[in-house]
Amino acid sequence: MKITVFGAGYVGLVTGACLSDLGNDVILVDVVKEKIDNLKNIILPIYEPGLEEIIRRNYNKKRLLFTTDSASAITNAEIIFIAVGTPQAEDGQADLNAVRAVATEIGKHINNYKIIVNKSTVPVGSGDLVANIISNNQKGEKIDFDVISNPEFLREGCAIQDFMQPDRIIIGSSNNKASQLIVDLYNPLETTVLVMDVRSAEMVKYASNSFLATKISFINEIANICELVGADVGLVAGGMGLDKRIAHGFLHAGIGFGGSCFPKDCQALIKTAQEIDYDFKVLKSTLETNYLQRTHFIKKIIRILGNVEGKKLGILGLSFKSNTDDMRDAPSIDIINELVKNGALVTAFDPVAIKEAKKYITGINFATSSYQVAEGSEALIILTDWNEFKQLDLLKIKELLKSPIIIDGRNIYVPSKMKDLGFKYYTIGRGKA
Ligand SMILES: NC(=O)c1ccc[n+]([C@@H]2O[C@H](COP(=O)([O-])OP(=O)(O)OC[C@H]3O[C@@H](n4cnc5c(N)ncnc54)[C@H](O)[C@@H]3O)[C@@H](O)[C@H]2O)c1
Repeated sequence: MKITVFGAGYVGLVTGACLSDLGNDVILVDVVKEKIDNLKNIILPIYEPGLEEIIRRNYNKKRLLFTTDSASAITNAEIIFIAVGTPQAEDGQADLNAVRAVATEIGKHINNYKIIVNKSTVPVGSGDLVANIISNNQKGEKIDFDVISNPEFLREGCAIQDFMQPDRIIIGSSNNKASQLIVDLYNPLETTVLVMDVRSAEMVKYASNSFLATKISFINEIANICELVGADVGLVAGGMGLDKRIAHGFLHAGIGFGGSCFPKDCQALIKTAQEIDYDFKVLKSTLETNYLQRTHFIKKIIRILGNVEGKKLGILGLSFKSNTDDMRDAPSIDIINELVKNGALVTAFDPVAIKEAKKYITGINFATSSYQVAEGSEALIILTDWNEFKQLDLLKIKELLKSPIIIDGRNIYVPSKMKDLGFKYYTIGRGKA
């Protein structure tokens, strides 16, 4: 198939690269010229394991092209994916400006029947919005098209695997012929494909992300109670997760979720509900609990270390989760800013996110290794569960630290082992804090 993908970000790049790897001819369009120029030299705007190799392979085979010329990318396509950003607008709803801009371009340049696939996360009713914009921007003879909802569920850090081996593919469409074409496009992926109406498909995405976010906030509250009653949230989650109705995923207690999806998608669903006079109480609590978890952690640090003014503190991990350089709404931003506000002298290290982090965090030093961070620090504070932090030479870390204190916001070590190594090791929800 001839496919055009709008948006060369996490979702668009992965979608374009993987669809070209499945044998389709793909054109990736972005409005940022520098991004497109770099991509032509296989310089990626994001860190995503395995993506560069797939892009290089398909670019070399000329199955994957990069352009800023939306007109020719539209006229050449049979299927057009919209994968542009839908960040949180000031009122909490999803900002659809980029989606509107792409729909306008499609309306202006559509030259024959096309299927428009909305992969961006967009509120219920956006399928109609996109269709109306396309229709209204067509001049002269009206050309037929169908708008399909196909929400994306990939996780940054394992996006290729998630795209190629998804748990399910959701297709929302009011036209059987169009949805069958998209079912056929995904046929090589061998997974369950659910076809439904557009509005339900749009809702599946918000409901899924909100549910996962709620699971995280729930286990974080259990962790907070565990600290007060002297229970271990790791054991509790293990026991809960064996129940198939609950399952293990997203029961890892920590400093809460961040990133570009959960916070904004929860907020957008709360807003959608509000607009129809529905008070989504559970989801509001999910978000409130999430941000409180950052505050709890800051208070914990100060309770353990006392006044942090003038103290050198080492931070391990900046990205909102491991295996990505994405810093959008990362807990590290709030936590570090608060420590700096309290006069702490912060040095931080992240395996890939330092370049991004510099756009969000100022007034701290960035180190080139975990060991450099530990050197002379009063305590080591873990904010992201990168694998390389799990493999550190902890005896060396202990020697480098001023005092053997580790405050772990991601519960990456075994408390008994840390005790044996001589650390004062503080965690989230594993016994009395
Ligand atoms: N990042 C994730 O893990 C993830 C997962 C599932 C779904 N989503 C959803 O997918 C969508 C995209 O997210 P993302 O993280 O890839 O965003 P992103 O910010 O990484 O990328 C968006 C890209 O769109 C480009 N763009 C903006 N306006 C454009 C236009 N008019 N024409 C062409 N390109 C344009 C931007 O320059 C940017 O490169 C969002 O709706 C998001 O909620 C994201």
